[in-house]
Amino acid sequence: PKFRKMTTHRTFTMIKPDAVENGHIGGILEKITSAGFTIVAMKYTQLSKRDAQAFYAIHKERPFFDELVDFMTRGPIVSAILEKENAVEDFRALIGATNPEDAAEGTIRKLYATDIAENAVHGSDSDENAAIEGAFHFSGREIY
Ligand code: PPS
Repeated sequence: PKFRKMTTHRTFTMIKPDAVENGHIGGILEKITSAGFTIVAMKYTQLSKRDAQAFYAIHKERPFFDELVDFMTRGPIVSAILEKENAVEDFRALIGATNPEDAAEGTIRKLYATDIAENAVHGSDSDENAAIEGAFHFSGREIY
């Protein structure tokens, strides 16, 4: 008998303040939906300092933590939960490496990111974090 591999089918993303400022919301959403992801939750918000510190708490000892919090709170973001088979891994491939200089041709960061700090989009790095991050930004009633 054949068994389907178990894959979690959701990931969490943010279009970061740099990409919003630079007018790339539409271009990025087009890349995401063209790649086969379905949007199951989405909102346009601005994070408070407290929100950003909590969201990125895992990085609080990193030298760039304060810079990351300042950047992520300086303007509005688009946050979304995306659905697709193998969502976390496929979305990380679609966005490309953290540093756009290392990102593959055609990836969202190659197309739209400025540098390693202002890199246009976030994508969850595991199924577990996708669930935690989605729940941080959305209540159950906001998820389709
Ligand atoms: S790690 O070790 O893989 O978790 O780190 P990484 O994914 O590379 O980065 C974690 C998040 O920190 C951001 N980042 C930075 N911000 C500012 N300055 C510098 N130098 C820098 N390096 C990494 C990076 O964009 C990641 O943010 P998210 O939102 O998770 O993509």
